[in-house]
Amino acid sequence: LDDTEDITLGSADKPGTRVKVLGRVHRFRSQKDVIFITLKDGYGQMQVVFAGDLIKTYAALTLTLETSLVIKGQMRELPPTAKAPLNRELHADFFRVIGAAAGDKEAITNKVQAGGDPQTLLDQRHLVLRGDVLSSVMKVRAAVLRAFRQAYVETRCMEVAPPSMVQTQVEGGATLFGFKYYDEEAYLTQSSQLYLETCLASMGDVFCICPSFRAEKSLTRRHLSEYMHIEAELDFIEFEDLLAHIEKVICRVIELVLQDPLMAGYIKELNPDFKPPSTPFKRMKYADAIDWLVEHKIDFDDEDVPEDHPERKRPHRFGDDIAEAAERQMTDIMNVPIFLTHFPLELKAFYMPKDPADARVAQAVDLLMPGVGEIVGGSMRIWDYEELIAAYKRVGIDPTPYYWYTDQRKYGTSPHGGYGLGLERFLAWLCGRFTVRECVLYPRFTNRCTP
Ligand code: 4AD
Ligand code: MG
Repeated sequence: LDDTEDITLGSADKPGTRVKVLGRVHRFRSQKDVIFITLKDGYGQMQVVFAGDLIKTYAALTLTLETSLVIKGQMRELPPTAKAPLNRELHADFFRVIGAAAGDKEAITNKVQAGGDPQTLLDQRHLVLRGDVLSSVMKVRAAVLRAFRQAYVETRCMEVAPPSMVQTQVEGGATLFGFKYYDEEAYLTQSSQLYLETCLASMGDVFCICPSFRAEKSLTRRHLSEYMHIEAELDFIEFEDLLAHIEKVICRVIELVLQDPLMAGYIKELNPDFKPPSTPFKRMKYADAIDWLVEHKIDFDDEDVPEDHPERKRPHRFGDDIAEAAERQMTDIMNVPIFLTHFPLELKAFYMPKDPADARVAQAVDLLMPGVGEIVGGSMRIWDYEELIAAYKRVGIDPTPYYWYTDQRKYGTSPHGGYGLGLERFLAWLCGRFTVRECVLYPRFTNRCTP
């Protein structure tokens, strides 16, 4: 008769009891008459000791990393100085191999930190995911998603699921992925914003968490071709309400995630310097950012000018698109979240309205975070019919396929606004990762669609 209790590796200490555990070999150290194993499952890690007759078995002598095992034994408490997970150790009296690992790729799982060859690590992503860093980030990701949903419930936003296959663009034609939809032209969605706007009248404030797709031609540390887009749309608001909402949701999400001791532990390990931001976030107008860049001698790199021309790099001017590098330098120096607002209209998407106080600029906002730069893009939306028609014209969009969007302005229009947050960028900031590629299971970017 078996008196063992099945436990997961992260579950509370059971000193003195006999338990059965299932997991994979994460690390092991063989000594003369003992083998120390760090066993892991999805919930945690446990130190296991094989001694006596157990280490004389063929299975113990040929043990490899990642091999899956069932182990039974006695739990013992250890002093914190022993540095074992949860200060305990399992003294095995039985084990059986469930699935032996080939042993040829065993070094790969924790190579992310060790700086392995990036292409190999990407090809072997299915194994690299088992490493400490990626598995922690993926668990934080799950907790962050759950927290966003809760934060939205608390702010009375309802979740909707807009389509991914669409026939309209939101953020410009240059980054559209097109495909044949039966006999018609269609695209993978860049943003669900236009669809969210159509839900306001029936459901009130809404949000969605769906992948967005962008055919980004540049390889940067913060661009993916497929990313998780958290978008919300709010009815009957003014610009300042939009900023207040973004700030509130982000701070609530961080609070919820850190309330879970397991997640707080992962974040502490991944990003020891992380501190929840204080509110209100710093607000800065685009025009003031330009002045700041000029003062700090951070130049504009004008790609329309030949490489060797003296005008290639020049001080920023009003109207310049603040590039990724300049934006990040500014954010890193200020080292706090920044709401950057009131961008020139020409730099922004067609649906953004003019600021009533300054017709040159849009009621738009980017939220910038230290280490990453932009993690949120949002704005008020043009809600006047004639103004919207003029906006289509300004950017050269044929309004015909947008009839359903335009109709919102004919049937009970309202001042409204919303935003989109890139989940991987948020995670890169929270978990202190260098690139968004570390914050998604299987990154998709230029020329990478495997595995
Ligand atoms: O600034 P963007 O392009 O804004 C929109 O799509 C709006 N229509 C959203 C809305 O108002 N509902 O994208 C929003 C955010 C960015 O701030 C960034 O965090 C993320 O989406 N993002 C990307 N993340 C990873 N890879 C890419 N290629 C991204 N493009 C945008
Ligand atoms: Mg943007």
